[in-house]
Amino acid sequence: MLEAGTGQEAFEQFGAGVDLVFLDYRLPDTDGLTILKEMKRLDGDVPVVLLTSFVNVETAVEAMKLGAFHFANKPFNLDEIAALAARALETTRLRREVRQLRASEGRPFSLQAIVGQSPTIEALRQMVAKVAGSPGSTVLLTGESGTGKDLVAKVIHYTSARASRPFMNITCSALPEQLLESELFGHERGAFTDARMQKRGLLESADGGTVFLDEIGEMVPALQAKLLRFLEEKSFKRVGGATDIRVDVRVVAATNRDLEAEVEKGRFRSDLFYRLNVLPIRLPALREHADDVPTLVGFFIDNFNREFKKKILGVTPAAQAVLQGYGWPGNVRELRNVVERAMLLAEGERLEPRDFGALVSGRSSADLFDLPAAGVNLEELERSLVSQALKRSGGNQTKAAGLLGMNRDQIRYRIEKFGLTA
Ligand SMILES: Nc1ncnc2c1ncn2[C@@H]1O[C@H](COP(=O)(O)OP(=O)(O)OP(=O)(O)O)[C@@H](O)[C@H]1O
Ligand SMILES: [Mg+2]
Repeated sequence: MLEAGTGQEAFEQFGAGVDLVFLDYRLPDTDGLTILKEMKRLDGDVPVVLLTSFVNVETAVEAMKLGAFHFANKPFNLDEIAALAARALETTRLRREVRQLRASEGRPFSLQAIVGQSPTIEALRQMVAKVAGSPGSTVLLTGESGTGKDLVAKVIHYTSARASRPFMNITCSALPEQLLESELFGHERGAFTDARMQKRGLLESADGGTVFLDEIGEMVPALQAKLLRFLEEKSFKRVGGATDIRVDVRVVAATNRDLEAEVEKGRFRSDLFYRLNVLPIRLPALREHADDVPTLVGFFIDNFNREFKKKILGVTPAAQAVLQGYGWPGNVRELRNVVERAMLLAEGERLEPRDFGALVSGRSSADLFDLPAAGVNLEELERSLVSQALKRSGGNQTKAAGLLGMNRDQIRYRIEKFGLTA
């Protein structure tokens, strides 16, 4: 237990390790409210009980506003004070636990969670770091489905100064308008038929943290207007409420739509678009950084080895070629799913083209070619395809084999058979 005779002394002793503060209102050098304010700024988790011998409602209200845990009048009953201290200590313990849990929850979302060595991904990581370093500016994430918008939103939050505060996320297309509005802004009791109790919205719960608004392109115009007002004023009213509620929240919005096109079509408010577009981050499609495919494949193999308790060492060169030659319309998500399926099917130590059967056959014979009425010369077709694969792979036999779902021996045999030059 630490004791201090003046505000200055108390302030100097206040640091890590203090779990609870009893603070007199009248101090020789200053008043309790000033010290309370400073302590709350240093460590908002520590409960401060203010003690005073004269009742003054205004001071009490001010103390509670500044975050005092309790306001006790002297002389006080020792039993009451003991109970109060027990409650306050429990509060400290819980607050610290929540903080630690939040921090550990965020540990997987460091900058390194964005995997890839290409200049494209390197630039993306740099951009994310810069954005995370900005205090609270709004971020707009765009990019096709499966490119990592959710991931980047979390990395921004958990690498920012807001990391120990909440990360809340909501998918704007998942809820009907009225529900989405009350989820976001909260409502007062009786605001609508089902509103039996007052409810805090996501923006309030996330105070100090980040709100991720996914699929923002699907938000209805009425809510777009309300969100715009919040972004401009940093305050809002609960549904059915009259008081302005002020919060400090970073909004990260994401969409896989072309928002500018939506603006032109009159489906998305241009003023909201500009307000959201303060820090735009465009996530590249996987085909734009196909050189990261091997790195990503390795990353997911490691992950699934752990999850499935397997010991897959990697992929064969032929399989690598299949993966690199593929167009990845579903981006990193598709790649992850494909690796997951292959690892469940694989029998060998390395993943082979046949483990990626769905990719190979999905692209070739089964779906792409229909036998013409006049039939084909299979030998000629084979020759032509082998030759095309060699051309596309710049003469690299392993890559060409991958494009055809073969191994190197199989393609070598055909190169010789057809007298092709590699
Ligand atoms: N660069 C990357 N490094 C590691 N994992 C990634 C990367 N990009 C995406 N992922 C992973 O791919 C999967 C899909 O990513 P995510 O859910 O973030 O995509 P999205 O852009 O939000 O897609 P949608 O528009 O469909 O919501 C997730 O498992 C994510 O962790
Ligand atoms: Mg997403």
